[in-house]
Amino acid sequence: MFPVQRPRRLRSHPQLRRMVRETVLTPNDLIYPLFAVPGTGVANEVRSMPGVYQLSVDKIVEDAKEVYDLGIPAIILFGIPEDKDTEATGAWHDCGIVQKATEAVKAALPDLIVVVDTCLCEYTAHGHCGYLEVGDLSGRVLNDPTLDLLKKTAVSQASAGADIIAPSGMMDGFVQAIRQGLDEANFEDIPIMSYAAKYASAYYGPFRDAADSAPQFGDRRTYQMDPSNSREALKEIHLDIAEGADMLMVKPALSYMDIIWQVKQASNLPVAAYNVSGEYSMVKAAALNDWIDEEKVVMETLTSFKRAGADLILTYHAKDAARWMASVL
Ligand code: PBG
Ligand code: ZN
Repeated sequence: MFPVQRPRRLRSHPQLRRMVRETVLTPNDLIYPLFAVPGTGVANEVRSMPGVYQLSVDKIVEDAKEVYDLGIPAIILFGIPEDKDTEATGAWHDCGIVQKATEAVKAALPDLIVVVDTCLCEYTAHGHCGYLEVGDLSGRVLNDPTLDLLKKTAVSQASAGADIIAPSGMMDGFVQAIRQGLDEANFEDIPIMSYAAKYASAYYGPFRDAADSAPQFGDRRTYQMDPSNSREALKEIHLDIAEGADMLMVKPALSYMDIIWQVKQASNLPVAAYNVSGEYSMVKAAALNDWIDEEKVVMETLTSFKRAGADLILTYHAKDAARWMASVL
């Protein structure tokens, strides 16, 4: 056969490689997660997530400033309340920890986009993402009573100044319920980033340390998806689109690149990938042992998410990644 195809011709020089590079990561692609706790001056490092802290509101504002200065457009807020109960009061109360953190960040940094996680698991005593019959130890989450609480939560978060509502509980009809709640409260312009295809994953383990949100009994398999399924992910995606989602999230990211790709093909909404806590912790553990090059591994992984179709990446490595990007420009 002549001529011989020689793909290596285009790899022969760094500048040539830059010219034919298909996927380029920028800070615009990133969203940085933050965990708000009560108090002042608090910074508790999460045992299983070196470099990630539970922060009091004053510290959240400092960290958010750093994020903003690195050119990252958005943070996502999670909250650890003072008290947990059956009604998840801390989630929807106007004095809730996420509401306070949102107000403080927006006051200090009006141009930083504040995404809020809208779920009940950090606020319920049993740690499930929804409402349970009082005294029920089977972990059977009641769908529609949960929707009412999620609606209240989203409206309260929007009232505190949240820019994007990100419901993560995988309840049926949660996008529609929240959209309706927001519209009725005159928040028609607040977008919903739905955790549309969220799997029941063991990779959330370290997050549950960070957010103190492990279920006290049972597991989340009656609401989060079975890792074996991909057609079901498309079903979830189409339902959320019909219900009014503005952005779609796939979670976790690394083991679900096929899902990211399919969601991208199946819709024309922006797709977000959540590079979850367990993915972060594995990289950190290996890096702290000097077994891998953290920077190279992280940049390769994040670039791969984008190549697979992610328009946005939620990652605990966002600040590091933005710094590394700046150093190669
Ligand atoms: C709450 C929620 C979880 C994560 C984001 N929102 C945990 C869970 O479903 O148990 C996981 C994030 C991570 O692991 O980094 N519904
Ligand atoms: Zn939850």
